[in-house]
Amino acid sequence: MLRQALLVASRSGGVRKLVETAPLTRGVVHRFVAGESVDDALRATEKLTGEGLLVTLDVLGEDTLDAGQAEATVKAYVELLDRLAGAGLGTRAEASLKLTALGQAFDEDLALENARRICTAARQASTTVTLDMEDHTTVDSTLRIVHELRRDFPDTGVAIQAYLRRSEEYCAELAYEESRVRLCKGAYAAPEDVAFADKDEVNKSYVRCMKVLMAGKGYPMLATHDPRLIDIAGALAVLNEREPESFEYQMLYGIRPQEQRRLAGQGAQMRVYVAYGQEWYGYFMRRLAERPANLGFFLRSLASK
Ligand code: FDA
Repeated sequence: MLRQALLVASRSGGVRKLVETAPLTRGVVHRFVAGESVDDALRATEKLTGEGLLVTLDVLGEDTLDAGQAEATVKAYVELLDRLAGAGLGTRAEASLKLTALGQAFDEDLALENARRICTAARQASTTVTLDMEDHTTVDSTLRIVHELRRDFPDTGVAIQAYLRRSEEYCAELAYEESRVRLCKGAYAAPEDVAFADKDEVNKSYVRCMKVLMAGKGYPMLATHDPRLIDIAGALAVLNEREPESFEYQMLYGIRPQEQRRLAGQGAQMRVYVAYGQEWYGYFMRRLAERPANLGFFLRSLASK
């Protein structure tokens, strides 16, 4: 219930204003968001990569209905990728994209063209791009776009959400050579005929998907903070005789940082998803929805002022 309410609020203009202008919001937001500028993102990336972690960078923003805004997002990614290349970070940091920030909601061809420009900049920076998966209405379009992008950029990754009833089928289709697939649980509100609502069902689906990806020929990117799923991932790696460099773990910036370092210390590839920029509202609200304790922390910090 609370999760659903927060996810609905994540799309409400009124709540957005209230949260964005609350005096202490920023302090709490900074637990999950690296900062507002590309300099902040570079600083966080240098720190994390210096500790042996890999990074994927997300320029915050989503759901645009404006071609000018989509163009601004492309430019922000190109600047980021140039800066990564300049700092020699291209082999340790890649980019994560939300296609709705590139125009997907009103012009799929424009979103594809914009994504292509970002993939070109990524290639010049010796790195890759992964497409985030957004709400269920965008799944077919995102899969079409990744299929097109992979003609020229076969290393383009895509996220699959285990809460989708069709997720195992998507994983089977995507488990081919070179195919980079990020498996996550899913962070958006979705109807029951499309997605499992029950946590246990989602976890079981995650395990089924992970089995398909780890047994397949592609490059699985296991995005979860869930200790049980991380243990199962380790067992599947042994079972499938996977070398540590043939798959990776992924976690979000600010969540279970010690576990991130523990896995990297054991020789696993561990990538941290670092989001930055001014459009942090939707991202932040999804982090609150994932964990009620975060909401309590947030509300207490507002009340204490
Ligand atoms: P779960 O939510 O069960 O959490 C397991 C444990 O992790 C919790 O008990 C807690 O300890 C910790 N934890 C999890 N979330 C926390 C939080 N917000 N604050 C504090 N602790 C927390 N989703 C999507 O729909 N599309 C996408 O493209 C992506 N991309 C993506 C990339 C990466 C790298 C990650 C890690 C996640 C995503 N997600 C995503 C989000 C994902 O779908 C999911 O909502 C979150 O990862 C939380 O799910 P867990 O698997 O961590 O399990």
